[in-house]
Amino acid sequence: MKKNVFTAVCLFLLGLGLCGCSADTEEKAMEILRGQAPRKEEGLLRVGLIQTGKESDWRDANTNDYLHHFVEERGYELIYVDGNSSPERQVQAMRDLIWQRVDYIILQPIVETGWEETIREAGEAGVPVIVADRQIAVADSEYAAWIGSDFYGEGRKAMEWLETYLEEQNRGEEEINIVLLEGTEGATAAIGRTQGILESLSFHENWNIMARECANFTQGEGQSVMEKLLEELDPSDIDVIISENDNMMFGAMKAMDRKGITYGPEGEIITISFDALREAFEKMMDGKLHVSVECNPLLARGVEKIILDLEQGNMVQDKCQYIEEQLFDFRNAAEHIGARAY
Ligand code: AHR
Repeated sequence: MKKNVFTAVCLFLLGLGLCGCSADTEEKAMEILRGQAPRKEEGLLRVGLIQTGKESDWRDANTNDYLHHFVEERGYELIYVDGNSSPERQVQAMRDLIWQRVDYIILQPIVETGWEETIREAGEAGVPVIVADRQIAVADSEYAAWIGSDFYGEGRKAMEWLETYLEEQNRGEEEINIVLLEGTEGATAAIGRTQGILESLSFHENWNIMARECANFTQGEGQSVMEKLLEELDPSDIDVIISENDNMMFGAMKAMDRKGITYGPEGEIITISFDALREAFEKMMDGKLHVSVECNPLLARGVEKIILDLEQGNMVQDKCQYIEEQLFDFRNAAEHIGARAY
């Protein structure tokens, strides 16, 4: 019987991707069965990070920031869990980390919904949860704090840029047809940006959304969705493509290249995206991308500040913490590319 439980725990841990090899899995499983938290060394704070997955280059930069920040030399044992783009897997990971009695959980949710129960369970177990990047649809009294981007503000910034640019081009009164590539349904990054973008249409009767499709923040889907749209629409009708992240835009660019459609400041279609990756700067400097609104993935330092506050027994004063972000366009990209960290 005990052997079966042991096997089940091993499979569970492997399933979650918590362990890289079988010896490690066995050791962790034994510790869980003994009711011990698997602590590598006394004195380290054990922090569980539940990541969304590997959907974009932004995400890689965000993961690396945590991996480089929460290291043993700084007093941490980081337990990284890849959510693998599955909200169910993230919920399961949260339960496992509570079970392991980690000191803190950093939750980077894929979607906002589905968290009430597990957040309550973490509270009952006395494990503080810091929500980062996207948000959850749970009262903020139920978790320690949230830190991330003003996604709605990013959407508005992009559209304010478009308004100014069209006026500069003497196109302020023209009919403008927009194709919108959206991020993952239910994710704050998509909800906020879409809201900011769509709201701005109410100030511009001459702006129309001619198509909007979800491409899940991935380059592959950005390309396939754009390929499909180019079959359905007359490409010469498209004035603007807005992609809710750089990677989907890079995919859309591939689809347009295949059809010989030109875009960016040196082409026919205005291109707007979000994240401000180094590659986006290169595209802006190459005349392929007009603008990228920054979404800052470097959240680890801010999260650590919250943890240190909690360690000192303080309540976190600011429950909702926005990280600083800028907007870059093809006219200032060359000036800023040297200072980009991702
Ligand atoms: O939640 C942040 C968004 O998620 C970024 O814009 C996107 O690239 C990522 O995958």
